[in-house]
Amino acid sequence: MKIPFVDLKSQYLSIRAEIDGAIQSVIDETAFIKSHFIGEFEASFASFLGIKHCIGCANGTDAIEIALRALGIGPGDEVIVPANTWISTAEAVTTAGATVVFVDNDPALYTIDVTKIEEKLSPRTKAIIPVHLYGLPAEMDIIMDIARFHNLKVIEDCAQSHGATYKGKMTGTFGDMATFSFFPGKNLGAYGDAGGIVTQSDELAKMCRMIGDHGRLGKHDHGLEGRNSRLDGLQAAILGAKLPHLAGWTEARRRNAQAYSKLLSHLDIPLPTAPSHSHHVYHLYVVQVPERERVQERLAEKGIATGIHYPIALPLLTAYQRLGHTEQDFPAAARGQGRILSLPMYPELTAEQMQYVADALTNALAK
Ligand SMILES: Cc1ncc(COP(=O)(O)O)c(C=O)c1O
Repeated sequence: MKIPFVDLKSQYLSIRAEIDGAIQSVIDETAFIKSHFIGEFEASFASFLGIKHCIGCANGTDAIEIALRALGIGPGDEVIVPANTWISTAEAVTTAGATVVFVDNDPALYTIDVTKIEEKLSPRTKAIIPVHLYGLPAEMDIIMDIARFHNLKVIEDCAQSHGATYKGKMTGTFGDMATFSFFPGKNLGAYGDAGGIVTQSDELAKMCRMIGDHGRLGKHDHGLEGRNSRLDGLQAAILGAKLPHLAGWTEARRRNAQAYSKLLSHLDIPLPTAPSHSHHVYHLYVVQVPERERVQERLAEKGIATGIHYPIALPLLTAYQRLGHTEQDFPAAARGQGRILSLPMYPELTAEQMQYVADALTNALAK
């Protein structure tokens, strides 16, 4: 049996008429840039989250950089970023001109270790970017308390957490701002690159919109030097067609995660866990295994695609060599990077496919 890591084709086939209709409408109206499709999606996504503003942009990396710039964070400022995340979270801090300061992750939850944030603060620290990694909300109450006490801004990186809730409240609605990626494989994915920024603040929303549209105030009137980072009409229409399905897809992911956890419960390996106050949306289903490369190969031989998120903790990447970090500085991230393994996870996974993965993993670990 062949089991892909994600199956965007089967999702497309399940809503083909809606997607094709959305694409055709954009083409019929030649509504490619700055059309009503963008405003409509922004309004419906903001209402899904229960937040005032959503500003579409070109991708989730730009979204973080634009949010930092809107908050006035740049050269001379430091920003707290988890050691275990996709590089965009840190990269955007650098491209905004600020300095990245890494904090280790919680060894069981994989999100930022909130007990280690305060020791990394300095008089130059301006913001924290918690990431709701793999679909599990970071511990937002504690993070917001730290931020309030030290007068820091919070930008939630929600690239992997569309629809996840913490103590009953949507991720993306805790911080000053939050950013989303709509990369095709995300829980809500476009058919190309796309991203968004959300906030309650009228002022920050206006600033983000300006920065993402060449600093434009009006036609040929530019209030500042921004950039071209707009959500395009086709992606907005596709996202608008997919958004009504997100809640159902999330429930399917949660059911699948539960099924995996039951099928794998006999194995003596760490499975995903979530505190009872968090509603995990399982963008990824991450386990830990010994001899990870050998296990991954065995699964590949059985036709099962897996991933590693992420094989090198950010502070240990060549890109951050300048910071001079060692594995001892980030014990949880360093230990996790050699053992974590992401199993196929998508709403359309069948019981038969999950049983096949569980059997293959059991056999691989037995050898
Ligand atoms: C945690 C995290 N942050 C940011 C991003 C950046 O999103 P994009 O690929 O849309 O630029 C991603 C996407 O992979 C991500 O997983």
